[in-house]
Amino acid sequence: MDTTSIVLSSAVVITTGVAALALYKWHHTREVLKTYQDRYNDQKEIQRQMFHHYGSLEDLSLLREIIPKEAENYHLRLAQFCNSVCDEIGVPKTRVLDVGSGAGGLSFNLSVHFREVVGTDISYYVIASAQQLKQFGEFGSPFSSEGGKHIILHCVRVPDDAVKERVVFWHEDVCALLYTCGKFDCVVVSNTLTDMQDPKSFLSDIGDYVDAGGMLFISDIYNWRDGPEELLGGEGDCLTPSLLKKVLDPKWTLEEEKNMPFFVPRCRRLAELGNAHVTVWKRRETLVEPNEE
Ligand SMILES: *[C@@H]1O[C@H](CO)[C@@H](O)[C@H](O)[C@H]1NC(C)=O
Repeated sequence: MDTTSIVLSSAVVITTGVAALALYKWHHTREVLKTYQDRYNDQKEIQRQMFHHYGSLEDLSLLREIIPKEAENYHLRLAQFCNSVCDEIGVPKTRVLDVGSGAGGLSFNLSVHFREVVGTDISYYVIASAQQLKQFGEFGSPFSSEGGKHIILHCVRVPDDAVKERVVFWHEDVCALLYTCGKFDCVVVSNTLTDMQDPKSFLSDIGDYVDAGGMLFISDIYNWRDGPEELLGGEGDCLTPSLLKKVLDPKWTLEEEKNMPFFVPRCRRLAELGNAHVTVWKRRETLVEPNEE
């Protein structure tokens, strides 16, 4: 073979490779979106979300005696915590990203403190309901009080103190955020990390959207489907916090951690109780080399 045909055939091989990879990625993304839509294309899931974000224990007479008060107002407590940490550290509160914003309760609570709040969710259905809430200020959400079709109508309202104009909701996969979305002073990831298809790439890339000195809050119950090692890398008895540290270390320092309880109602007589682990990360001024083994 002469040089020209070698160059030509390598060009063909490379082009085919690139095309195949692009096709694979496109297919993969489509599959990811399909699974996510399947999961939330369910009125009950939206109801749970709405109640979790906007409901109060007062509405659940059979549960309010047995659910601890500390588990109430999770989104409000998380928003206030983000606000006070930013104040302490001196982070400007211009733009905040609420990753996996769901029904938008946290976004609205954050709007009291931050000048611009961007809520993103991969589920079209929950984003649509959050947008409807923003637009009309209320949303009639049927609550399945005895499972199945037995429903009571529960009206959800945007909290009075929220500043609706500051909040926007985007339908987006955070594992492939667009660079056009700009930079944020603060990123909050509440009960979303373990649902991500590719949490490792999210954690490695999210630092690109935050300037040095900015903050990242991760609140999660670490209820992984298969195990954190499979998605974050690592082996043996590494637990999520140490794996988070490993993945985030090149760009972030761990500042603080605490527990934050919450509840999610399922029906009149059933609720899930959780105790989220909140870790607070600060964007480094200079990046350090990842310590790969
Ligand atoms: C936060 O959200 C909750 C639930 O929607 C609401 O009751 C509360 O008033 C909000 N508080 C603030 C300060 O935004």
